[in-house]
Amino acid sequence: MSAPLLAAHGLSKTFVAGGRRAVALDGVSLSVAPGETLGLVGPSGCGKSTLARVLLRLTEPDEGRIDFAGAELSALKGERLRRMRPRIQMVFQDPLSAFNPRATVADAVGDPLRIHRLVPRRERPAAVAALLERVGLSAGLAGRPVHAVSGGQRQRVAIARALATRPEMIVLDEAVSALDVTVRGRILDLLVSLQRERGIACLFISHDLAVVRAVSHRIAVMDGGRIVEEGLARQVVAEPRSPTARALVAAVPRLAAGGGI
Ligand SMILES: Nc1ncnc2c1ncn2[C@@H]1O[C@H](COP(=O)(O)OP(=O)(O)OP(=O)(O)O)[C@@H](O)[C@H]1O
Ligand SMILES: [Mg+2]
Repeated sequence: MSAPLLAAHGLSKTFVAGGRRAVALDGVSLSVAPGETLGLVGPSGCGKSTLARVLLRLTEPDEGRIDFAGAELSALKGERLRRMRPRIQMVFQDPLSAFNPRATVADAVGDPLRIHRLVPRRERPAAVAALLERVGLSAGLAGRPVHAVSGGQRQRVAIARALATRPEMIVLDEAVSALDVTVRGRILDLLVSLQRERGIACLFISHDLAVVRAVSHRIAVMDGGRIVEEGLARQVVAEPRSPTARALVAAVPRLAAGGGI
């Protein structure tokens, strides 16, 4: 395997809220190679989203270190951190819900181009149209409010937005979990083809092992803030070793029988 693009060592994070302590991350280490998709799967509350947020420097860990593309990401501040942000992008379950209701599809996709000053203003409509086309959306959607497109279209817009900065890595947190099975399958196909075409590394997070299996080269299984198992995707599914992985396989009868999603 080539040198990792992303490497995390000993990440820990405990939340204290209302007198309760929640250990969300308890010494997590992982690495992702350039162009590789690492699937991260585990039961609700095991720390997946916290790990995603910590890797993106949206939540500060209590302990641990993150290296990305040869720099110590966890130590970057100010302008140097800002310059790193376009290189690692994120897609959430409903990433556009936080947008102003009047924001259009063109705003959602074009904002990163403007914010990071990647494309001059007059070239932006063409750049947005090309991104929409690449994710299978008509350029005619550009003027539509993001709140007025379907869930599947909205997730394609979110992927186009994430691609806008030409990132080396994308973190997807339950990005297809709210979609119906047919739409989900099409979005997963799109992700796999984009990932191959552009050599983008992915951390693909889901509580659903079948979905993770469909897109990942390797899978890490998380439980209670720790990674309890890690291996090639087909190996983890065919021969799960940890009780957590076994339970996740058993929860998807088609997988247990050797099928796909
Ligand atoms: N901002 C926060 N404040 C307090 N506790 C938090 C916060 N964020 C997460 N937690 C707690 O940390 C633990 C891990 O949560 P996290 O959201 O990372 O899990 P998850 O694996 O993403 O779950 P899900 O599959 O339901 O999305 C949980 O116990 C959760 O309640
Ligand atoms: Mg989560």
